[in-house]
Amino acid sequence: MSPRILSPLLLALVLVAAGCTNVSKLDLSNVGSRAMWQRPDDVVRALGIESGDVVADLGAGDGYFEPYLAEAVGAGGRVYAVEVDPGAVAGLDASIEAGNLENVEVVVGLPEDPNLPDREVDVVLLVNSYHHIDERPAYFRRLRADLAPGGQVAIIEPNEDLGGVLSLFLDEGHTSRAGDVHAEMAEAGYRSASSPDVLPVQIFEVFEVPSP
Ligand SMILES: C[S@@+](CC[C@H](N)C(=O)[O-])C[C@H]1O[C@@H](n2cnc3c(N)ncnc32)[C@H](O)[C@@H]1O
Repeated sequence: MSPRILSPLLLALVLVAAGCTNVSKLDLSNVGSRAMWQRPDDVVRALGIESGDVVADLGAGDGYFEPYLAEAVGAGGRVYAVEVDPGAVAGLDASIEAGNLENVEVVVGLPEDPNLPDREVDVVLLVNSYHHIDERPAYFRRLRADLAPGGQVAIIEPNEDLGGVLSLFLDEGHTSRAGDVHAEMAEAGYRSASSPDVLPVQIFEVFEVPSP
């Protein structure tokens, strides 16, 4: 996500000025930080991530979600922080070491394959990274092999339908529409599992693979 979106206070003011009803979803106990609009604890809770789970953060960037995921899965669980960008991989290594996140493993992915272990991952989370993936239906069809039975894929993306507001913070092409994501995931063989209604400026769509 562009650094411009990291201006939480300005975002709140713009949402209010635009009369955006989603302003009530801002976490005002975290004014001035990304948590105000990203609500990481609520995201983890909505996904039902529990102690012992295996989670992949696909397109982990600078590792914003890693402390929250690491705490939720606990010492008996595992977080795979997947990145394709060598600079991000180096930054992730450093922040995981600094945070002493022993249950987080950095995985160097390929653009067409996240290099996750087969049939192991309970939740694959993509935050602001879905729109970076090329050939998405083929990519997510392949990803099904990495999911544990009952595994889910959660996609959080800047909401295209807030375009006018978000264009003040984001470069073009960095937003998605829920309907387009549903169509692509259906093409990849998934069905909708839930759409948690907790985030003010991002869509939050969760998918699963129907049993045969
Ligand atoms: C906008 S950043 C989001 C980072 C983080 N999820 C967050 O919300 O702070 C998108 C990240 O996705 C990564 N990325 C792009 N294509 C990818 C792929 N095919 N597999 C894994 N990561 C990818 C980029 O390198 C970038 O770090």
